[in-house]
Amino acid sequence: MTDIAQAGTFQLGDRRVKRLGYGAMQLAGPGVFGPPKDRAAAVAVLREAVAQGVDHIDTSDFYGPHVTNQIIREALHPYPDGLVIVTKVGARRGADASWNPAFSAEDLTRAVHDNLRNLGVDALDVVNLRLMFDVHGPAEGSIEAPLTVLADLQRQGLIRRIGLSNATPRQVAEGRRIAEIVCVQNQYNLAHRGDDAFIDELAASGTAYVPFFPLGGFSPLQSDTLSAVAAGLGASPMQVALAWLLRRAPNILLIPGTSSVSHLRENLAAAELRLPEEALAALDRIGAA
Ligand SMILES: NC(=O)c1ccc[n+]([C@@H]2O[C@H](COP(=O)([O-])OP(=O)(O)OC[C@H]3O[C@@H](n4cnc5c(N)ncnc54)[C@H](OP(=O)(O)O)[C@@H]3O)[C@@H](O)[C@H]2O)c1
Repeated sequence: MTDIAQAGTFQLGDRRVKRLGYGAMQLAGPGVFGPPKDRAAAVAVLREAVAQGVDHIDTSDFYGPHVTNQIIREALHPYPDGLVIVTKVGARRGADASWNPAFSAEDLTRAVHDNLRNLGVDALDVVNLRLMFDVHGPAEGSIEAPLTVLADLQRQGLIRRIGLSNATPRQVAEGRRIAEIVCVQNQYNLAHRGDDAFIDELAASGTAYVPFFPLGGFSPLQSDTLSAVAAGLGASPMQVALAWLLRRAPNILLIPGTSSVSHLRENLAAAELRLPEEALAALDRIGAA
């Protein structure tokens, strides 16, 4: 079994979590819609993650919708001490599986209550406001109105900590005038490095940066350089992609997603992989290309 603590820990709000966590989005059905083909396998992945020491799970009630949270509850409730479940609000799924912005006070309040009920908790550890000015990437726009709603729900004790997803530096600055922002969850990986400067800025303020699609998302990363470095180290390309993220900045927390116990074990073993300087230099050139 991997000692995932070797990858270190980082402060996520008032909790300290291991830097290798797990993203639960892959546990819903195809297109993150409806139930998975094999629910027992999904339950097994979550139990294995916790058995391996994972204490940070990323989810949303709009995965499924509802399905992923219900599977988390079935697999892990009552939750072990120290487990931090991070969820997100700001979207509603259409009957056609579409992702639609849902930022009214009513939408956000309903989403928080859906998460509480489906996860089976009295308060949510961390809620990310998932911005949708552009569904595919960060885009400017004021977040004052929806964040004020979340801050009110926090004051009511339904949310412990607040983060932002698909956010720009300007939105984080605006958000900080309304609530403490403990994490930012944006798309970032070896080949998608638009947030390089932002990550360093967040590291300086002790804010966690949680890259989504750390392995490339729906089409996992493919690169000759990545494959060659991995072969040279006797590791898999996905392990190298995760080890590179761990080296990239101390505030990066990983939530690789998988629906498979064997991929989960492989991904967690990245905690023990050390990248030599020449490998790092070669990997850095992937993003620059
Ligand atoms: N805030 C947002 O807008 C947002 C958006 C997307 C995702 N997220 C969060 O970020 C988490 C991570 O993103 P993600 O799951 O979409 O993408 P990801 O972690 O980059 O990659 C997941 C994909 O890689 C495959 N995979 C995983 N481990 C593998 C391995 N060792 N070898 C080969 N293939 C492997 C998975 O398939 P298998 O199931 O076959 O392993 C799946 O297709 C999500 O679970 C979710 O919690 C957030």
